[in-house]
Amino acid sequence: MQSLEFQDDRLRLIDQTRLPHEVAYLDCRTAAEVAEAIASMRVRGAPAIGVAAAYGMALGAREAAQVLGGQADPERLAAALRTVAERLRRTRPTAVNLFWALERCLEVVGRASALGPAGVAEELRRLADQMAEADVRANQQMGQHGAALLPPRTNVLTHCNTGALATVGYGTALGVIRAAVEAGKRVHVFVDETRPFLQGARLTAWELQRLGIPMTLITDSMAGYFMARGQVDLVLVGADRIARNGDVANKIGTYTLAVLCRAHQLPCYVVAPTSTVDFELASGADIPIEQRNPEEVTHLNGQRIAPAGVQAAHPAFDVTPARLVSAIVTEAGVCRPPFELSLRQAVAIRQTETLPAEALP
Ligand code: MRU
Repeated sequence: MQSLEFQDDRLRLIDQTRLPHEVAYLDCRTAAEVAEAIASMRVRGAPAIGVAAAYGMALGAREAAQVLGGQADPERLAAALRTVAERLRRTRPTAVNLFWALERCLEVVGRASALGPAGVAEELRRLADQMAEADVRANQQMGQHGAALLPPRTNVLTHCNTGALATVGYGTALGVIRAAVEAGKRVHVFVDETRPFLQGARLTAWELQRLGIPMTLITDSMAGYFMARGQVDLVLVGADRIARNGDVANKIGTYTLAVLCRAHQLPCYVVAPTSTVDFELASGADIPIEQRNPEEVTHLNGQRIAPAGVQAAHPAFDVTPARLVSAIVTEAGVCRPPFELSLRQAVAIRQTETLPAEALP
């Protein structure tokens, strides 16, 4: 299953807001439609929104070809595409993959703008395809590295959705679970429902069910109960942005899980591609945290669940300090503390691979 696919003149996405009730596809034919799909979380998950934005840029270049004409002045074309990138950038602030992908796209625009809008659109499409392929490959590599960390029979707890839906395909933390099962390990998964957007209950439970992997859905507040009873062996989560010291921004509730792991002496593993590491940030304190509409807290399925007028807050992510992270599984291997060193080594290993230069962090 792929969360997104480019077809002729459109980006086709699985509309994740409609799951698990129906598998509906959304066709985006303009960059603005892609931006709207990201902002409304029809496509979500750090790697998926990065690749979706890259295809959004390719669509933006096609639109520019129509507006500016085939022989547009390279400077005007580049300016138009910087505006498109800005529109996509404003959708969600925390996942660095979005900004990483848009930077790569703008580099291509800078190099290729003399080719005219059609040529730039072609180059951007090629780059987005490379990113999509590199994402699936990285996920499979993380799966192999991470699966080795899991005992032959194990109970894993996971949070949010890090599967094929959150990526282009296969998944990060869920990819590790898949790879372990494919290697013959017996894995049972506790799935946090992930209040308030319910990515765990709606999406992870759906994916695990399709994969035939045994699971138990729990509310977020039950994690400590099951850990205290010895029913959880380890926690596996994804990441939206990792600062160079190893602090991890991920779905709200991840920090609580990491604290619980420390209290119960359980490993807390983060699974993320090197493109999720933001080496410009010294620590997690600098990671922008998305504040979403508090109505996502006061309402469930459009139904109010709190008294009218109640004030609510909705930080969509939290930061887990590096000292609570046991290891970060990347496509280049398993990084252990001190993370500043091991993450740089992972990027160096990654860069020696024969991957297209543009698709690298
Ligand atoms: O708000 P979301 O659903 O986009 O948040 C997703 C997460 O927090 C995931 O854990 C993260 O993006 C890693 S997904 C491979």
